[in-house]
Amino acid sequence: MKTIFEPFRIKSVEPIRMTTRDERRELLREAHYNLFSLQSKDVLIDLLTDSGTGAMSANQWAAIMRGDESYAGSPSFDRFVAAVGNLMPFEHIIPVHQGRAAEAILFSILGGAGNNIPSNTHFDTTRGNIEASGAIAHDLVIAEGNDPASLHPFKGNMDLKRLEAYLGEHGDTVPCVMLTITNNAGGGQPVSLENIRGVSKLARDFGKPFIIDGCRFAENAWFIKSREPGQGNRSIPDIVRDCFACADGMTMSAKKDGMANIGGWLALNDPDMAEQARARLIQTEGFPTYGGLAGRDLEAIAQGLEEVVDEDYLRYRVATNDYIIARLDELGVPVVKPAGGHAVFVDARQWLPHIEPLAYPGQALVCGLYETGGIRSCEIGSVMFGRQPDGSETPAAMELVRLAIPRRTYTQSHADYIVEVFAELAEVRTELRGFRIAQQPRLLRHFSCSFEPLGGGNAVTADDAGVLQLPRRTA
Ligand code: F0G
Repeated sequence: MKTIFEPFRIKSVEPIRMTTRDERRELLREAHYNLFSLQSKDVLIDLLTDSGTGAMSANQWAAIMRGDESYAGSPSFDRFVAAVGNLMPFEHIIPVHQGRAAEAILFSILGGAGNNIPSNTHFDTTRGNIEASGAIAHDLVIAEGNDPASLHPFKGNMDLKRLEAYLGEHGDTVPCVMLTITNNAGGGQPVSLENIRGVSKLARDFGKPFIIDGCRFAENAWFIKSREPGQGNRSIPDIVRDCFACADGMTMSAKKDGMANIGGWLALNDPDMAEQARARLIQTEGFPTYGGLAGRDLEAIAQGLEEVVDEDYLRYRVATNDYIIARLDELGVPVVKPAGGHAVFVDARQWLPHIEPLAYPGQALVCGLYETGGIRSCEIGSVMFGRQPDGSETPAAMELVRLAIPRRTYTQSHADYIVEVFAELAEVRTELRGFRIAQQPRLLRHFSCSFEPLGGGNAVTADDAGVLQLPRRTA
């Protein structure tokens, strides 16, 4: 079957307001070329994140009506714990309002000055929570994980040799070993079951708790089933259980593979750690039978966890990325390969070589995609990582643009449209201009800094011609 068969029909729709290129040019200027400042009503296809932006099912909405909002002892909590425990057999399951809250609680226990915490690649909120506790976060992904062109099937794998040396070197200062599945910061690349077992064995040999950041566990399990020798005939829930049986705990954002718009959890086996976590939870999130969530959110997650391990869903999910990547590849757009689980990553440095890294080629592409076709994407390069603690600028390792695909939200027509916008941009890519940052906050600047296009006149005046001097074809 060539068509991507979306395994659902649509019961409820959200209108998308069509905009023109002239409107978008003006909106971009008003947003100072930072797409976080745009209103979502002005976006045609929103690929800023796959987090909390998916469509819920009819059964999830039905479950929401069943939500019991009791402060303590809600049956919605029991259903939530049963659904999580069915896939992730941990002793203590502690709800939180989203993934970073689980991280904050975990590192209030395991972080602290002088500690070192390894992972394949820490996601930025994980790193932020580790560093806020005074500890240091280290990334030990395999070399292929940093090579956009490598076709290794599990580019999210931890480098086990480096991990072993690291554990030997840092000894008692390592409070736990982490692993992110899939490896979001590394392009949504999966980790093999063999590698998860290898990390688990090393952690056990060195007496360290092993904690999985499981945000996209179902996508990871799909890749294990479809790419790892010997796994092809197993069910997704079985593979998921095997992955988490290797670990001593997990952090989770239910906004990803929980198929919900909000929520998360921290799970642990160790009773002492769980007690400390619950004490902190009550301080910062809420009573342990609801965390920071409403009972109805717990219901949506419990139902979402049943749906996310469905093979027809996962096949469609990954097929969408494969489809976009194959077509971008045909157009000569350099993309991170093979396809990851939740997003398409474009290598902007390679595609726009006329723009210096510190003139932000990723931001140029992000603005070009919006002006040309109303697509909102996210720069993951020197805008996000270039500013150093002393205020200086260093180019990031890669200049990527992430097109994150919300779950069950867009169709194959939308995927075709995305490709069409790239085709139009391909014709004029050498005319895209770089940017300079006009104003920025001290931390996490990518969310709120303002930009000015380089060259070609003063881009922030009303008579400016826009980011692109282009023929105008796309609506
Ligand atoms: N871990 C990973 C791997 C993530 O991708 C995220 C969020 C978090 C933890 C934090 O979870 O948002 O619920 O607090 N990633 C989103 C993204 C924001 O766009 O990739 P959260």
